[in-house]
Amino acid sequence: MRSSTLGLVPFFALFGCASPTPAPAPNDAQEINTDSGALSDAQEINTDAPSPADVPSDTGRRYEPEPFVPTDATRAYCAGRDAAAIEARITGLLQTLTPTQKRSLMAGAALGRTEDVWLVRGVPALGIPGFRMIDGPRGVAVLPPLRATAFPTAMLRGASWDPSLEERVGAAMANEALSAGATVLLAPTINILRHPRWGRAQETYSEDTTHMGSMAVGFVRGVQSRGVLATLKHFAANSIENTRHRVDVRMDPRTLREVYLPHFRRAIHEANASSVMSAYNKLDGLYCDNNRQLLTEILRDEWGFQGFVVSDWVLGTHGATPALTAGLDLEMPSPLEFAMIPTEIANGALSERDLDRAVRRLLRAQFCFGLDARTVTRMPELRETMAHLALAREAAQRSIVLLKNATIDTAPVLPLDASRLRTVVVLGRSAAVANIGDYGSSAVPPSSVVTTLDGLRARAAGAFDVVHIASSTLDAASLAAVRAASAVVIVTGSLHSDEGEATLGAGDRASLALAAEEVALVRAAVAENPRTIVVLESGAALETASWDAGVAALLWAGYPGSQGGHAIADVLFGAVEPSGRLPFSMPVREADLPPFDNTSERVTYEFLQGYRHLQQQRTAPRFAFGFGLSYSSVRYESITLATPDAASSAPETSIEATVTVRNTGARRARETVQLYVSATASTTVRAPRDLRAFSQVEIAPGATVTVPVRFALRDLAVYDTTARRMVIEPTTYELQAGPDSERATLRATLTVR
Ligand code: BGC
Repeated sequence: MRSSTLGLVPFFALFGCASPTPAPAPNDAQEINTDSGALSDAQEINTDAPSPADVPSDTGRRYEPEPFVPTDATRAYCAGRDAAAIEARITGLLQTLTPTQKRSLMAGAALGRTEDVWLVRGVPALGIPGFRMIDGPRGVAVLPPLRATAFPTAMLRGASWDPSLEERVGAAMANEALSAGATVLLAPTINILRHPRWGRAQETYSEDTTHMGSMAVGFVRGVQSRGVLATLKHFAANSIENTRHRVDVRMDPRTLREVYLPHFRRAIHEANASSVMSAYNKLDGLYCDNNRQLLTEILRDEWGFQGFVVSDWVLGTHGATPALTAGLDLEMPSPLEFAMIPTEIANGALSERDLDRAVRRLLRAQFCFGLDARTVTRMPELRETMAHLALAREAAQRSIVLLKNATIDTAPVLPLDASRLRTVVVLGRSAAVANIGDYGSSAVPPSSVVTTLDGLRARAAGAFDVVHIASSTLDAASLAAVRAASAVVIVTGSLHSDEGEATLGAGDRASLALAAEEVALVRAAVAENPRTIVVLESGAALETASWDAGVAALLWAGYPGSQGGHAIADVLFGAVEPSGRLPFSMPVREADLPPFDNTSERVTYEFLQGYRHLQQQRTAPRFAFGFGLSYSSVRYESITLATPDAASSAPETSIEATVTVRNTGARRARETVQLYVSATASTTVRAPRDLRAFSQVEIAPGATVTVPVRFALRDLAVYDTTARRMVIEPTTYELQAGPDSERATLRATLTVR
């Protein structure tokens, strides 16, 4: 690693956070009723200073809160609102609120939910609304009998590679959150998919920080455009389920700064994410909620984050003093640890200033996002609207990945042509079940689910027969039906019983293998009928190489949401062009990936994961990160770079490559142009290539288009462990454009001086 003395240029601006100095322990105050914050009481609330009658008595108390001068960062956080007035109002409230009231703002109200939401009571008499939280990220996690739109899981939406589509999904989810009486959506999950056996793989977007950051920025913008607060979770390095409450994740500083954190920073800087949830696990020996380096030095001091940090639930807070002094502001779902705050103030470990710091951040979020002026009303009719169901279907259509499409008798097997089909036989354990994801905190109950069988039947509409065989072992009659079919569709992969959030669900996957009886079913079908199509549903990568050779077509459909069956049929029949691209690598075998040990109390995360690891090992994947076929074909023709020289001292410089691509096929194509960067002359350890930008374009048959793909010079930065800053190394960078991580063959050179 080079140090800054060798000419590397530090650039991440440091924003200061007011750091209150310790003050003498104040008197405690009497217990007051902070009100239930019930649904109707967030009506147009007067935000002026309370009248004396509203102020709880706190006999003899004289308390002067620290003054707070808004910074550029606070003003940016409060976009559109008067930050100075809000900070002054908070200062007044800190003077007025008793310590007991402050504590009540700093923890959830109950271990369970109150009318679907996790409640953080406010102080309505003082115009403080509190928070009403509900889980995402595949929709709004209302409790049955209430219903909400089950969108495709985030990993499948990640395969859309379309942040603007994700922004629409975020806005729709926020509308549904509001209709459930919530003001905070506990999403997005943006933990790097270090290994596809992670039980919550389905909840996140990617194995890659650039792709993850772009999707997160889209989602957060969408959610917050509706006045709902988005929560980035779980900060940080939460990528193992079974030991999530205790595992100590170790990694070197570069791995942390370059792989596990940049997407969090981007969602804060580019989308003004309001809040962050600390992770359950330890990072480098300290529980994340106790990790001052993470919650204060990086998040606040370096990134200038002005929002609040909420704990993960129940087992996510480890002691009031260590958590508060590290930078945690809110314990959820109730004050299991924060109940000790009065004792710790009494013994001098904490001061009221420590409470003020947290309360200021919590109030800032409430006032800057206008929660005090919001009427919270439960309106179930605003969920599962026609528009939201259509969006769920569109998100699945745009994300399903076509992995293989063999040619039989001179034509590719897909798309299917309804006019040429007599019978389609449908097999597989996921064909006729509502397979929309795990049973963990992100579970969403839709009114109904369109299974693949339903989708195919709707598509057939009498034009051909759809025969469903439910058994995974085929008797003689079933084999004959398979043999005689015009095509066979097997819907298989994982179920909620294979993977999911721990405690509430299955936890980590036992392996990447498809269940043995399903492999046997695929083989049996392939032996009878060459037109066997497999639709794979799962959180992330499964191993297919041992059985996919004879399969005519293969698709990855994640957990496709309540409209998934329609979307799968749309893709199979070419009603939409397949445009999904894998947001993870599918290895030939699990052993090709870094080891995954979900029993150990301690694990070291390596610098290279996913495609970065496979490429370093020179191990070809079965299907590469970024890969996906379409029904057309696209040729990458050229790349040009407007400014092939740049100065490392100007980190915001935009680097724009123009990539020319031609649709050489007969159908419309939606192509995702991916731009990877290598720095082979660098003396720093690097991945063989890193995704740094991507851009999507629709191309008419025969047309040639030029696609601008942009990134900022700062995106090339690496963490200098000596200077302890992100720095841009002056060296030669090779920009590599192409359709996926293995075929980025167009090359251009960028020299950074
Ligand atoms: C999960 C969080 C979730 C919270 C509330 C925790 O177990 O890790 O992601 O937001 O529960 O449901």
